[in-house]
Amino acid sequence: MGSKNKLKRFRENETFENVIQPEREEVLNGSFALKGNWKKDYFKNENPLVLELGCGKGEYSVSLAKEYKDKNFIGIDIKGARFWRGAKTALEEKLANVAFVRSQIELIDKLFDVNEVDEIWITFPDPQIKYKRTKHRLTNLDFLQKYKKVLKKDGIIHLKTDSEFMHGYTLGLLHGKEYEVLYAHHDVYSNEYSPKEVTSIQTFYEMQYLEQRKPITYIKFKLN
Ligand SMILES: C[S@@+](CC[C@H](N)C(=O)[O-])C[C@H]1O[C@@H](n2cnc3c(N)ncnc32)[C@H](O)[C@@H]1O
Repeated sequence: MGSKNKLKRFRENETFENVIQPEREEVLNGSFALKGNWKKDYFKNENPLVLELGCGKGEYSVSLAKEYKDKNFIGIDIKGARFWRGAKTALEEKLANVAFVRSQIELIDKLFDVNEVDEIWITFPDPQIKYKRTKHRLTNLDFLQKYKKVLKKDGIIHLKTDSEFMHGYTLGLLHGKEYEVLYAHHDVYSNEYSPKEVTSIQTFYEMQYLEQRKPITYIKFKLN
């Protein structure tokens, strides 16, 4: 995408009521006002809160928001020009139960309070992200602890990825820990028992992997 187009999207994001772009400082120093108040102050209801981490264009957030009007969805990504797509679609389709936050996933426990979140989707994450000058996988133990902090008891995490390594690595970490694997498959489109949301929604990155005939993996797990 050209830089002119990106700038246009950044400017539009500023005007979108469903896009929240907190200052890094306010998030870090604990003064981000929506933390702990998402349902009351933003969505103005008590419905469950579902996050999509590294949401890109936000296909999961928007599609699930259409399907589940009784849940609230928040897509989080650092790249505003990407989630502009999801935000614009949500506005055009008058979906009041979806929002986008421009922030870093590693700040999740500063954006959301303890027990504030019901479910997390991690859709086609980068293999590793840079955080505190080192590289991390979004399902390493540090990140799982952060998710555990913001998730309610029995909160659910979904991981959909083309990376067989990430799939195996995550299953290995979950084994015997305080997590419970509810469903896992290394090739969801070849399995008739895959949950509907897993095979009925395709993300932008996923479509490219499907064109390359890569198998798509999925794990649904719970924090006990
Ligand atoms: C491989 S893309 C997948 C995007 C989308 N989920 C999809 O499937 O099309 C990974 C996304 O994670 C975002 N991302 C990577 N590191 C991040 C971080 N530390 N905080 C927030 N977003 C991040 C990138 O900007 C990118 O949009």
